[in-house]
Amino acid sequence: MLTNKKVAIIGVGKMGETLLNGMIKNNLVKKENLTGSNAQEELEHAQEISKKYGIKTYINNKEMISGKDIIILAIKPQMMKKVLSDIEDIISQKQLIISIAAATSTQFIEECLEKNIPVIRAMPNTPALINEGMTVLCPGKYIDENHIQMAIDIFGAIGLVEVIHREELMDVVTALSGSGPAYAYIIIESLTEGGVRMGLPRELAKKLTTQTLLGASKMVLETGMHPALLKDAVTTPAGVTVDGLMELEDGGIRVALIKAISRATEKSKEISR
Ligand SMILES: NC(=O)c1ccc[n+]([C@@H]2O[C@H](COP(=O)([O-])OP(=O)(O)OC[C@H]3O[C@@H](n4cnc5c(N)ncnc54)[C@H](OP(=O)(O)O)[C@@H]3O)[C@@H](O)[C@H]2O)c1
Repeated sequence: MLTNKKVAIIGVGKMGETLLNGMIKNNLVKKENLTGSNAQEELEHAQEISKKYGIKTYINNKEMISGKDIIILAIKPQMMKKVLSDIEDIISQKQLIISIAAATSTQFIEECLEKNIPVIRAMPNTPALINEGMTVLCPGKYIDENHIQMAIDIFGAIGLVEVIHREELMDVVTALSGSGPAYAYIIIESLTEGGVRMGLPRELAKKLTTQTLLGASKMVLETGMHPALLKDAVTTPAGVTVDGLMELEDGGIRVALIKAISRATEKSKEISR
């Protein structure tokens, strides 16, 4: 579906480059149909991207988006208004906009562009870099099934994709899967530290931690069993695990994690406002 589409990425930074890489590696879009842009004062960065991926890059968004089918907005939220006002007069309803900017609603983008432009909001996360991303898509007012399918194809190249239709849930999505890798890294760091404290070499402790978390995640995903049942299967009466669990409960791990999601969701709402 995407092979003959022309795709422009406004903002080839960390996330923009991840998407670019995913589309190229998976042969989703032909290289000659892919373009990217960087900030005007960053000509060198644009040249670097062009050399690295063999695509045409720009520092002028207006020039780049002309004739493109899909325009991906991968700039920081605070740049959004300026970038949209730059392209507003040449964008048309035939072009699909996909925005990955946090805390930026489809309504905001639609209103800035003032032309019933189809807009999809996407929230990917950083493991997309190794094709293990989690992206949630939310369609705007002028989106049809074809648009959604094209976005699923793009983000499906870098991990799993879900579509939701209630945009107010994008704040909790941001807090959970968008910010989630940061919480996971803290857990990995702490379990590793625990292993080191008890005498394991650091590298070994890190390997045991990461493979254990990866395996446990896959067990939940692949067996479909409730995590509580899987936990019970590891927990022998009067055994080792139950003592470890008691310490986690004493440290308030569940409440801490639940509160982290609530607090980050509130922050996302606050920034959106
Ligand atoms: N990182 C994450 O975990 C994550 C997850 C989900 C969503 N997001 C969203 O993804 C977006 C990008 O985040 P990021 O982490 O990739 O940021 P980033 O690395 O700073 O990338 C932003 C890019 O935008 C470019 N840029 C700035 N002004 C521009 C303009 N006027 N025209 C064209 N390009 C311009 C910058 O170019 P130069 O580098 O040349 O200055 C930079 O490459 C944000 O809105 C963020 O909310 C990020």
